[in-house]
Amino acid sequence: MARILVTGGAGYIGSHTTHHLLSLGHDVQVLDDLSKGYAHNVPEGRLHVVNLHDTAALDRVFSKGHFDAVIHFAAFIAVGESVREPEKYFRNNTGGSLSLLDTMRRHGVRRLVFSSTAAVYGNPEHVPIVEDQTLKPVNPYGESKLMTETTLRWLDECSSLRYVALRYFNACGAESKYGIGEEHEPETHLIPLIFRAIRTGKPITVFGNDYPTPDGTCVRDYVHVSDLAEAHRLALDSLLAGGPSGVFNAGMGQGYSVMEVIRAAETVTGRQASFTLGERREGDPAELVADSSKLQKTFGWKPKYDTLASIVESAWAFDAHKHGAV
Ligand code: UFG
Repeated sequence: MARILVTGGAGYIGSHTTHHLLSLGHDVQVLDDLSKGYAHNVPEGRLHVVNLHDTAALDRVFSKGHFDAVIHFAAFIAVGESVREPEKYFRNNTGGSLSLLDTMRRHGVRRLVFSSTAAVYGNPEHVPIVEDQTLKPVNPYGESKLMTETTLRWLDECSSLRYVALRYFNACGAESKYGIGEEHEPETHLIPLIFRAIRTGKPITVFGNDYPTPDGTCVRDYVHVSDLAEAHRLALDSLLAGGPSGVFNAGMGQGYSVMEVIRAAETVTGRQASFTLGERREGDPAELVADSSKLQKTFGWKPKYDTLASIVESAWAFDAHKHGAV
């Protein structure tokens, strides 16, 4: 049993990881300012409503918690918003991480799992993407995460901090046994938006069908949030056992186009999803697919949700839990 602090633990991936670690017997505390996350995602008595820039409050949480390690999710994630308000992303994501790292040093906590993103690659040179490809983010969101990765690399070099950064591809799905799922406001992610189209009959816009992909729509690597939660657990175990720092892709290694996801959702729900073909969305690479062999080989990561249908099914179960059956 380890004492773990999860920042951003009221959010989508953070709350799944929190529940997963609790189910394995770890003592987990959650730190979240609730600017995006929801208190109902966090088990009773574990939530500290604190912003990462509030160092006095951070000190209080760390003084009480005696943490063995931190898992750091707290960040803004909307790519489009990051283009419109870059300062907000560098302040919250990069600045917030630095404030957390300062606090960790003050309290002698030297193990961190960091929530990174495929957005650090920008438009990849090769697909599937391996970790040592050129890192060239095409939006402030990706850059804000890369700046934190760079900070971590230097802290590993110059101090006793050890970290694992997980670069997620498209997190999706939900874990019904915890009653939590994907809830963003505003929602920008494909699968919940397809469900909205199915429920309301109002069409979802497919952003571009002239990409150099088999059906012209963007290809992404959809990975179940519970498999991501397990990747965090494995990274944490390695760090707690004295393992080295490292950076890992987390994806399934299989790409699906926007149209394939729409078709999968129609099959799972037995309902039609109306859609219209629209312009490309700014900053969308044509294809993002992970090579996650490093994660599999190093930690023995074996994703359980290995079909798109099973992932979409679990997301639909949460949608029904939230909005009622259709
Ligand atoms: N899409 C549509 N219509 C919509 C919404 C999405 O066609 O209404 C398309 C997008 O163009 C994209 C695909 O569906 O091709 C997936 O889009 P999402 O917004 O669900 O996810 P992204 O691939 O844009 O973003 C995800 C994460 C980001 C991360 C990025 C790169 O949400 O945080 O992957 O790793 F930066």
